[in-house]
Amino acid sequence: MINIALLGFGNIGSGTVEVLTENRIQIERYVGCPVNIKYILDRRDFPDSPWKNRIIRNFDIILNDPEIKIVAEMLGGSHPAYEYTKAALMAGKHVVTPNKEVVAKFGAELLDIAAKNGVRYLFEGSVGGGIPIIRPLINDLAANGIISISGILNGTTNYILTRMGRDNIGYSEALGEAQALGYAEANPADDVSGADAARKIVILAALAFGKLVNPDTIHTEGITGITQEDIKTAAGFGCSIKLIAHTELVDGRVLAMVAPHFVGPENPLFGVNDVFNGILVAGDLIGRVMFYGPGAGRLPTASAVVADIADIAVNIGSSARKLHWDPAKRDEVADFGNYSCRFCFIFSDVPGSVDMLGRSFGSLGNVLREEGRIAFISEPMTEKEAGEKAAASGVSFIKRFRVL
Ligand code: HSE
Repeated sequence: MINIALLGFGNIGSGTVEVLTENRIQIERYVGCPVNIKYILDRRDFPDSPWKNRIIRNFDIILNDPEIKIVAEMLGGSHPAYEYTKAALMAGKHVVTPNKEVVAKFGAELLDIAAKNGVRYLFEGSVGGGIPIIRPLINDLAANGIISISGILNGTTNYILTRMGRDNIGYSEALGEAQALGYAEANPADDVSGADAARKIVILAALAFGKLVNPDTIHTEGITGITQEDIKTAAGFGCSIKLIAHTELVDGRVLAMVAPHFVGPENPLFGVNDVFNGILVAGDLIGRVMFYGPGAGRLPTASAVVADIADIAVNIGSSARKLHWDPAKRDEVADFGNYSCRFCFIFSDVPGSVDMLGRSFGSLGNVLREEGRIAFISEPMTEKEAGEKAAASGVSFIKRFRVL
C-alpha cells in the first residue's frame, strides 16, 4: 500500500478523492497496490463528509509521518503552497501538483530540491487541465528541438470568448457561468488578465528550452478589452478571437507572451471552443503536433493529478530522470519588440485613401468597412514596427490584434 496526503479539499482536492475512490480498481491494477489517502489537509471542517476522519489542520503531521511517500498539493496560490512543497521535498516526500502559480514562480528551485533529495516533483495538471502535455514534452518529444509552442491555455477565457462570439452572451454573464462551472481561478482576474496563461506558457517554455522566465515579466494582455465589435471585425475576416500564449526562441533568447489573436480557419486552434484548450507544438523532427482537450474543471484536472501520483507510485525506488531548469537571466529573455507576426489594424476613420494607408502597412489587400470601423490585415512585422506605424499613421487608430 502507498500512503499519500492531499493538501486542500476544494474543487480539485475533492475531485482527486473522487477519482482515487471511483477508479480505485484500475488505479490499483496500474500501480500494483492500493493508494491510500491517509490525510487531507484543510482549514475547514467537513462534518458530513465520509472523509471527515482524515481531515487534519496541522501540516507537520504529514511532514513527520514516514509512511507518507507522496504529497499532492492542491491549495492553489503561492503561499503556503510553496513552503509546504519545499518542506515536503526536503523531508524526502514526492510532490505532485496542478498549481501553475508555484511551478511558474518557483519551479527551478523546487526541481533542484527534489533532485537533491532523491524525490520527484510532477505537475502534469498545471498546464492544459486534463490534457497530457507535460509528460509528452519531457518524454515523447525528447528527441526534438522545440521550435515553438502556441496554445489556448486558459479554459475560462476560451469559454467566455466562445459564449460572446458564438452565442452572443455578454462578458459578465459568460464569466459568471465559467465560475459556476468550476473553471475559473479563485480570483478570476488571474484568468481574464492573462496571468494564468502567462504562468502556463513559461512552464511550457521551460520544458522546451530549459530556462524558466519570470511570468510577471512577459508581455501579457488579457480579454477584458475585447468588445462585441472586435469579435464582429474578426468574423469579417473569417477569424475568431482566441487568447493565445506563445513561446519560441528569438536569436537564441526565450520569447514568451500572451495576447488575444485573430485566428483563421486554416489554423487548428480556430476550432478550439468552450473550456477546451489546444496546444500546438512545433518540433524539428515531428513538424507540428496538437494536444487538445478539457483545459480546466474538477475531474479533468484531478485526472492529471492522479496520473502523477500513479507515475510516482509505480516508479518508487527506481531512478527517474531528473528535470532541471535554470532561472532565465535577463539577457536570455527576448525583447518582445522583436516578435514578428501579422496584425489586424483597426481604425475608426480614414479621411484619405484607405488603400494608400493599407499599402503603407503592407496590407494583404482585404479591407473591411463596417459599423464605423475600417480594418485590414498587414504583412508580418515586428511588434515595434507595428506600434511605430500605428502612431505615425496620423488617423484615428482604435486597436490592433495579432493574427495567427
Ligand atoms: N482557471 C484555469 C483555466 C483553471 O480556466 O484554465 C485550469 O488551470
